[in-house]
Amino acid sequence: MDAKAMKIEAARAALEHVTSGMRLGIGTGSTAEEFVRLLAVKVAEGMKIIGVPTSERTAALCVQLGVPLSTLEETPELDLTIDGADEVDADLSLIKGGGGALLREKIVASASAKMIVIADESKIVDTLGRFPLPIEVNRFGLKATETAVRKAAASLGLSGPLTLRMTGGEPFVTDGGHLILDASFGRIPDARALSDALHAIPGVVEHGLFLGLADLAVIAGSTGIRTLVP
Ligand code: A5P
Repeated sequence: MDAKAMKIEAARAALEHVTSGMRLGIGTGSTAEEFVRLLAVKVAEGMKIIGVPTSERTAALCVQLGVPLSTLEETPELDLTIDGADEVDADLSLIKGGGGALLREKIVASASAKMIVIADESKIVDTLGRFPLPIEVNRFGLKATETAVRKAAASLGLSGPLTLRMTGGEPFVTDGGHLILDASFGRIPDARALSDALHAIPGVVEHGLFLGLADLAVIAGSTGIRTLVP
């Protein structure tokens, strides 16, 4: 099974957790997009759900495929969020934000009673940090924030390149109008300590460590689907 087929299988297995009447957070990324495609088929067959998308990109796909949408203003409490991840460890701690949607993804997941992660087995790690950690920052004071992030990381014994995410020769701008620093710190043995240290920096809007948010991971591999719980 190739990577795309695995993403489809993970999405299909997660869809079994969706029932009519649910208020659903809908993730961002290539795996989440496979989920939207399958969800759209169920909606066309009569399943009644209302979705809150985690990005403009996901919103556009939902509109294109006829998945009904709401907002957190209209629907502030959700039953379930289904989203991808860049890394998943055994505790279901995650790195997210490879697609740049981490802030909305975290807000939507936090507003949900339950979060299911869908991924192929390449995303499973022993310790988070192989994938560069996305840190969403305010444009104002970028250099000062960058310096503060370096110092916070160093206080935890972490160091490595901090790269401003670019696209087409310009800084990548998130749906919220912020910038992203990708932090290649390597292994992050104490993700909670790093999360707290980053949250203490005023210029940091949010980071891609999702700790204690995922309730279930549906992982597709060459031998089939397995589910992980924290
Ligand atoms: C989007 O910002 C990310 O958090 C995605 O959920 C993550 O990058 C996974 O994307 P893929 O499913 O494309 O690997």
